[in-house]
Amino acid sequence: MTVETLDEMNPPSSRDSIEDAGAARSAPPISSASSFVPVDPFEIVVFGGTGDLARRKLMPSLFHRFCDGQFSSDSKIIAVSRSKHSRQEYLDMMRAAYDKYSKDDVCADKEWEAFAKIVDYVAIDVMDVKANWTGLAERLSQPDEKIRVFYLAMPPRMFADVCRGLKATGVVSSNSRVVLEKPLGTDYKSARAINEGVGEVFAEDRIYRIDHYLGKETVQNLLALRFGNILFEPLWSNSAIDHIEITAAESIGVGGRGAYYDGSGALRDMVQNHLLQLLCLTTMETPASLSADDVRTEKIKVLRALRPITPESIGHVTVRGQYTRGHIENESVTDYLSDVGLDRSSTETYVAIKASIENWRWAGVPIYLRTGKRMASRRSEIVIQFKSVPHSVFGAETHLNANRLVIRLQPDEAVRLWLEIKEPGAGGLRLKTLPLNLTYADNFTVRYPDAYERLLMDVVRGNLSLFMRRDEVEQAWHWVDAILAGWDSTNQRVELYPAGEDGPLEAEDMLKADGRNWSKD
Ligand code: BG6
Repeated sequence: MTVETLDEMNPPSSRDSIEDAGAARSAPPISSASSFVPVDPFEIVVFGGTGDLARRKLMPSLFHRFCDGQFSSDSKIIAVSRSKHSRQEYLDMMRAAYDKYSKDDVCADKEWEAFAKIVDYVAIDVMDVKANWTGLAERLSQPDEKIRVFYLAMPPRMFADVCRGLKATGVVSSNSRVVLEKPLGTDYKSARAINEGVGEVFAEDRIYRIDHYLGKETVQNLLALRFGNILFEPLWSNSAIDHIEITAAESIGVGGRGAYYDGSGALRDMVQNHLLQLLCLTTMETPASLSADDVRTEKIKVLRALRPITPESIGHVTVRGQYTRGHIENESVTDYLSDVGLDRSSTETYVAIKASIENWRWAGVPIYLRTGKRMASRRSEIVIQFKSVPHSVFGAETHLNANRLVIRLQPDEAVRLWLEIKEPGAGGLRLKTLPLNLTYADNFTVRYPDAYERLLMDVVRGNLSLFMRRDEVEQAWHWVDAILAGWDSTNQRVELYPAGEDGPLEAEDMLKADGRNWSKD
């Protein structure tokens, strides 16, 4: 990770925090020192160029960074897809998608015109062995002239074949790199096969396995919070922490992705990658540096220390659910089966897991993970629930709430530390639980870039810190495979939950059995 990441989170000056503490609430947001360091000219080939990801994320992200001046017209974007379109038709499609999905962003026609000049389109059916790839080769510059990025925004079963196609066409230059979209496979075996296939063409340090959660500002802030402050680290273990919750709740359903989703489910779609990455960043040891390998080495140690979930334990430590129809923000929404057009399906749209890390730091601290679609609201957060004080001096009638640190990742990005304080006024020593509340909205004016913007530029810069190494992905599959096998062998029920609620009641019961509740903030 570059220092640029942490620079963007400059704390207020000491004058602000000490002399002017009382005025903090009315103080203007901190002006950002954020700046865009130009990258070398590059050419990026986007396979799956007409797909959802290209329309919603990749093209808008490249456009934004072009507008921000991070790269110039010396760079080139070549979209590849099976369908035949002229270059202009493709551009019209991308512009319409930009207007639809990035509606809060300002897109000046003049800037779009300049951007459009560096975008090209070529139709290739990559699954057709007889397909002619020369159209792609012709559009690229001399090998080694520019950084070359191949972005595979397509089903992972095609990754290895596309890499072989690139090699056979002679377009893999010494400064080429490949970006693999998640999910990488459907289990350990398929992930390994993909890694082997891609590895025949690209060396490990040329392979960028994307987990877009790692590109989110607030996820990178986990490193700043944990390793940029002395406060937390001494308490960051089973000596002071009771449990941890990691939640990624979505109010959306499966949308138009039913075919993919029904073969995947929440465990593969969200837990194997995003939630486990959050778990790693929250619980890993302090890395020697923020270099890619130092961070990734610490993450893999956590994954290796995860207690395997067995058929004997699975019923107690996992809950799977599927949404039925319900209401979200007063709108009625359909059930999962109607959304995917099936009469029956046991695919989970919700999963809750009690994970345990078997090492000295975390022994005895449950890490509760949960994610679901069609939940009451969109909310991703990490809750660090501290232990109660060992002895209360306030008397039996005073209830003390244990401290809690809430890291809200999205939306309403914030860090909230709940403390006990004395309520002012007469009438004895009364305690109140209140938060130190650091919201991004109050403190920063900078535009939050979409995670893909940063990740795309990191690929061009050759910075692997925010991408997953092969061993990480495979280890995460190992752990997830055992859960899939356990569900299968025990026939674990898929609990139904109405859309617009916080998942199945069984997930509440799982915590209640441990004498705990999911945090409400
Ligand atoms: C994707 C999943 O990786 O992440 C989707 O495939 C999910 O199912 C999405 O909706 C959530 O991402 P975000 O950034 O909206 O939290």
